[in-house]
Amino acid sequence: MADNEILVVGGAGYIGSHMCKYLWRRGYRPIVLDNLVCGHRAAVQWGPFIQGDIGDPETLDRVFSEYDIKGVLHFAAYTCVPESVDIPLKYYGNNVANTINLLQGMVRHGVNRLIFSSSCATYGVSDGTPMSEDHVQHPITPYGRTKWMVEQILDDVESAYGLRAVCLRYFNAAGADPDGHLGEDHRPETHLIPIIIKTALGQRDFLSVYGDDYPTRDGTCVRDYIHVEDLAQAHLLALERLLAGGPGGKYNLGNGDGATVREVIERTRGITQASIPVRFEERRPGDVPVLIGSSEKAIRELGWRPQYSDLDAIIETAWNWHRRYPDGYPE
Ligand SMILES: NC(=O)c1ccc[n+]([C@@H]2O[C@H](COP(=O)([O-])OP(=O)(O)OC[C@H]3O[C@@H](n4cnc5c(N)ncnc54)[C@H](O)[C@@H]3O)[C@@H](O)[C@H]2O)c1
Repeated sequence: MADNEILVVGGAGYIGSHMCKYLWRRGYRPIVLDNLVCGHRAAVQWGPFIQGDIGDPETLDRVFSEYDIKGVLHFAAYTCVPESVDIPLKYYGNNVANTINLLQGMVRHGVNRLIFSSSCATYGVSDGTPMSEDHVQHPITPYGRTKWMVEQILDDVESAYGLRAVCLRYFNAAGADPDGHLGEDHRPETHLIPIIIKTALGQRDFLSVYGDDYPTRDGTCVRDYIHVEDLAQAHLLALERLLAGGPGGKYNLGNGDGATVREVIERTRGITQASIPVRFEERRPGDVPVLIGSSEKAIRELGWRPQYSDLDAIIETAWNWHRRYPDGYPE
């Protein structure tokens, strides 16, 4: 058994796979547990892979017995916000009930450090200014509520069992491995930048933009894009703080700045030199005009130093991967 083993649940997915490479580069051994419902076997390249479900106690017992797990990074969830409105029980079952099973496994095996992928969707509404961690949490979708519920469960679990957790509330994860080995491959894809790139590659006839009459600088929604490598950096800083005996907590991970949908399209046109046809549609229910996070607390307390704050760097790394792997990961 090694003394550097970190369990990454959901490590075959977009953010989890980048996390594993980041861990590996810094001398850790990422152990991936993923059921591959949304992830890709080919994205697991940096340590052992166990195909299994966090909802299965026997699988967890086997993993926690076989490896000397120092901490858990939790990326395993369903993530499609509109689908969570249509089939909420699927989301509560996986994102909440299966997380409780994971926590029970950790308690059984005395593993007491967790980094949880939460979301800015726990805030729900915003007045458009950068949100800090004490912004009221009033999630407006089942997906957002699943993340908010787990955050509250973690507070209770910490006081009862001493399991310390850091909840990282991401804004919009984007970009790809700067070396071009890993990228974003959700099926179906629901995130803006890969959809724009697929349109640039001619894999889609046009890009649908939902709403151009929002009270923003050009009428389209403003979102805060954060590079996946910077997310990985924040996770490791949070984990190392727990490993050193530090406290848990809740942190926003955003750029503190945002880009409109039109701006992202224009920047992608510049980088790809493609025309990217656009079709404007009605607003989607549940979309809010502006979601921007203040990450001052993560910078101050975790020592987080994002390296890819520039939108061009985010789009370029994503474009680089999609150009190399236009059909995504092999199945
Ligand atoms: N992508 C974003 O912009 C974003 C923003 C905020 C929060 N998050 C959160 O970050 C995490 C990772 O997101 P992502 O974009 O990488 O998603 P993803 O779908 O690419 O990765 C999730 C992974 O978890 C696995 N998984 C799901 N349920 C599982 C289960 N029961 N047992 C084992 N494995 C399971 C999937 O197979 C997949 O590989 C999620 O928890 C998501 O809610 C993502």
